Amino acid sequence: MTDLENKSLKTQLAILGGGPAGYVAAIRAAQLGADVVLIEEKELGGVCLNVGCIPTKALLKTSDTNNVIKKSKEFGIESSIENINWQTAVDRKNRIVKNLNSGLEQLIKASGITVIKGRGKVKSDRKIIVQTADGTINVNCEKMILTTGSSPLLPNIKGIDSDGVMTSNDALNMDFLPESMVIIGAGVIGLEFATMFGLMGVKVTVIELADRILPEIDNEIAAELQKIIKRQGISIKLSAEVKNIEKAEDGLAVTYSQGENTYTLNCEKVLVAVGRKLNSAAIQDLPLQFDKGAIIVKDNMETNIDGVFAAGDIIGGKLLAHLAFMEGKIAAENALGINSRINKNAIPACIYTHPEIASVGMTEDEAAAAGISIKLGRFNFRNNGRAQTLGEREGMVKIIADQSNTIIGAHILGANASEMISELTLAITLKATANDLANIIHPHPTLNEAIWEACGDLLGRAIHKL
Ligand code: NAI
Repeated sequence: MTDLENKSLKTQLAILGGGPAGYVAAIRAAQLGADVVLIEEKELGGVCLNVGCIPTKALLKTSDTNNVIKKSKEFGIESSIENINWQTAVDRKNRIVKNLNSGLEQLIKASGITVIKGRGKVKSDRKIIVQTADGTINVNCEKMILTTGSSPLLPNIKGIDSDGVMTSNDALNMDFLPESMVIIGAGVIGLEFATMFGLMGVKVTVIELADRILPEIDNEIAAELQKIIKRQGISIKLSAEVKNIEKAEDGLAVTYSQGENTYTLNCEKVLVAVGRKLNSAAIQDLPLQFDKGAIIVKDNMETNIDGVFAAGDIIGGKLLAHLAFMEGKIAAENALGINSRINKNAIPACIYTHPEIASVGMTEDEAAAAGISIKLGRFNFRNNGRAQTLGEREGMVKIIADQSNTIIGAHILGANASEMISELTLAITLKATANDLANIIHPHPTLNEAIWEACGDLLGRAIHKL
């Protein structure tokens, strides 16, 4: 490869964007012996590692700990919280992110991948120009993978740029906890932050345009979560539209309409979580085909242009880090001549609310829309011994199967749902039936027994259920 100082280099594979899709593509391509250039303007790891999955989970640990202390009397320990130092939680979050960043940098270096720190712009299907701190570098490549990701979307609301209005990126770096917060959007991001801050004692109101929370999630599961978070003291306004945000004496005044009525709420902070926009500024010069801003790709992750692949959020669909990992791997393999594909029937999704939601496969509504006649099995955690001992009685496992009992969807609401869903992802991947799972010995006492029981319920033979 040419020296970087020549301001021009040739590579077999150039990857634009070092998030979960881009860095996994880079590592996989390097494993396959390719000469790889990875272009990233910020830290490696993308939204997920720097301002998404990882930092939110680090802060969640603080709110979980707070919750455990508040509930400790139930477990025979009388305790009280003397002080909450949110800045310490944010510092811990920053240390975790930094550790993972440096681990990732070492991995990339050890894989022999050339990283160029700078802003890339695609000039043609074989050329990316990168603006670095030291000047411009032309990267000429045989193939490229576009993995430029997504950013928070700001809706067109009057006063959205007021001081105190935050995106999820800003919400991760508050140095103190506000007394009150209005969250616009009851989607994944809105509700993860709502339960996190709500459990920390922040007075949270969520304002949602639609008539339900979590539009992508199975209706029954979402409705159950709504009841639970209401009991936690979080207020949810549905079918409500924010019209205006303005400065008030002690923070912000948020005006929203609901039906015929208009209301104004005062709060210290506003968090906007109404979806994400795809980062396509760097790829405008390519004649790519798009659908609603997302690059259209074939099953092998190749775009309409030969040799140009795309993966991760920029191809739309479900914006999930683990899906981006797999898409990055598939893009790299196909770019290097290996024919591989993703099983789109078995994409797990986890929402880190309190309690968590995890799902894989079809919802009831999706099965109905596909004309599939279904069988259902349910099991409530309050009937599960391990859940009782943990003091985590809320939620359920719900299994959806077709008439041959093959599992086509699974939805979990409850503690550790995100850890449990992999059993069901494996089941759907292997086309397992409810009988298969109902006949597997699950260790006792475990939360996963609720999966065994829900499958039994689907077959009319759950044990710990009347
Ligand atoms: P989202 O699409 O999940 O939810 C946005 C919500 O905002 C929707 O319910 C929508 O009806 C509502 N909305 C839109 N405009 C509105 C308005 N003007 N006023 C009130 N409500 C409005 O988007 P979100 O939560 O921002 O997440 C973005 C993406 O990131 C999602 O695709 C999600 O899957 C992904 N993500 C995944 C995570 C996970 O898997 N744990 C965590 C965080 C994000």
